[in-house]
Amino acid sequence: MKLYRALQVQGFGSRKACRLLARAGKVAVNGVVCADPDAEFDPDGLELTLDGHTWHYRDKAYVLLHKPTGYECSHHPSHHPSVFTLLPVPLLHRGVQCVGRLDQDTSGLLLFSDDGQFIHRMISPKKGVPKVYRARCAEPVSAAMVDALHSGVQLTDEPAPIAALACEAIDDHTLKLTLAEGKYHQVKRMIAAVGNRVTALHREAVGAYRLPADLPPGAWCWLDAADLQQLEQRWPYVRS
Ligand code: URA
Repeated sequence: MKLYRALQVQGFGSRKACRLLARAGKVAVNGVVCADPDAEFDPDGLELTLDGHTWHYRDKAYVLLHKPTGYECSHHPSHHPSVFTLLPVPLLHRGVQCVGRLDQDTSGLLLFSDDGQFIHRMISPKKGVPKVYRARCAEPVSAAMVDALHSGVQLTDEPAPIAALACEAIDDHTLKLTLAEGKYHQVKRMIAAVGNRVTALHREAVGAYRLPADLPPGAWCWLDAADLQQLEQRWPYVRS
């Protein structure tokens, strides 16, 4: 693959901009500056260094963001900044999309990718990839609430009751809820249906993959093949 093309598909700009970047001597390939935009490289294992940052060539982008509260999962947010402002520009240029959405006031594990099939597998209710939430509630959590969430609650506009895959009280005001679907405001609506109200919501896991404890709110990281395998695990999964 020609250098300018590798830069272009990794999100560093238009064909013309990438040719200029290379010609200006601003790109190192595998640690060595290369000013020839037409130089050929094997993309497998390719490392591109620009502005002091090294990017590994990736056919597809799989990215995890620890979403802070106060950000909207939209390219056209209405009242708060967009989660896309927390990602570097090359990721935006290569067209990564949110894998499902979290509400503005929800924090936690949010995925992005430019792999349409992966996005579909993660959000399709038919695939049943579990999502794990921790919900702080306004009222004390009762055993009856936990039982009702487990056996199924009727939500407006849904044809049948929806049950949590798992539900437990973590403390007297906090529920841990595992859901197979990702319906609009699902956690808040399910908890409202049992007579309580969510005051804070955090997604801590998708599939068998947990949000890393050392990734602070607002920070992002790449996901590798082992992470993806964990993410796609269906319920009930076996933890290693
Ligand atoms: N359920 C909700 O109510 N909100 C979210 O952000 C995610 C799940």
